Amino acid sequence: MATSFSFASNGKAIVEARRAESRIKEEHSVSVAGHLRIDLDEYDARIRTFVPGYEEMIGRAAAALRFVAVSSPTVVDLGIGTGALSAACLQSRPDARIVGVDSDPGMLVGARARLAEAGHVELIESDFLAAALPKCDAFVACISLHHIRTEEEKRALYLRCFEALVPSGIFVTADCFPGERARVAEYQREAWLAHLMQSYTAKEAEQHLESWAGEDVYFPLADEIAWLQAAGFGAEVLWRRDAFAVIAGFKDQEAARTQPA
Ligand SMILES: C[S@@+](CC[C@H](N)C(=O)[O-])C[C@H]1O[C@@H](n2cnc3c(N)ncnc32)[C@H](O)[C@@H]1O
Repeated sequence: MATSFSFASNGKAIVEARRAESRIKEEHSVSVAGHLRIDLDEYDARIRTFVPGYEEMIGRAAAALRFVAVSSPTVVDLGIGTGALSAACLQSRPDARIVGVDSDPGMLVGARARLAEAGHVELIESDFLAAALPKCDAFVACISLHHIRTEEEKRALYLRCFEALVPSGIFVTADCFPGERARVAEYQREAWLAHLMQSYTAKEAEQHLESWAGEDVYFPLADEIAWLQAAGFGAEVLWRRDAFAVIAGFKDQEAARTQPA
């Protein structure tokens, strides 16, 4: 049983339950509380202690919606979680219509609460690898696509997103995309550990990274760019801090190369 919530523009929640067409595949179902070893009600505070530059990264991802020229763009948030990225998207583009997809019903409760006052939000409990993707102007994702475990699945998703976007559409993902070289990736890992150690002991910080590595897959930035391009996108890195980055895929290939000054 999948659930979709819609919120009317007067801020009153119209809650409708409906059966989703796609079933959540067991192997893709992620319990965030179990994975991160936290209580869900502390997610928003704890994620900032886990991810360096989380706030800034979300802001930069949301700001990318300025590249969407149409009014009232439909923005699909893949792995919306508790809705932080969508809330930032609505600050960047108050006219946006948000469709949030997540397989974890507990996280959707958080998103529903956070976005209750928003103009138009639809939340769908589903697996974004299996669900039909709605036609839209933008896909956005923040630290959710690292749950995709194989190159094949990720490339297939990029292709499906490309096909679901309108011709002027964009795809934006914010996540951990390490460097290709082992010594660069190791340096970036040290920077991540240093961030964790602002909130945790050295041992706890190391345990966090080890525990997440069992489930999360961080492909190198260069690979991600190549896969976006192979799907048909023009790719840009919009922000980078150590291993973390915001990257965008532009369906519109009109972008001419900037001439050097
Ligand atoms: C670390 S949380 C990030 C949530 C939010 N985007 C943020 O920035 O705080 C990852 C989210 O992706 C969701 N997720 C992971 N794999 C998924 C899948 N295959 N389909 C739908 N949601 C998925 C999880 O349930 C979780 O809410």
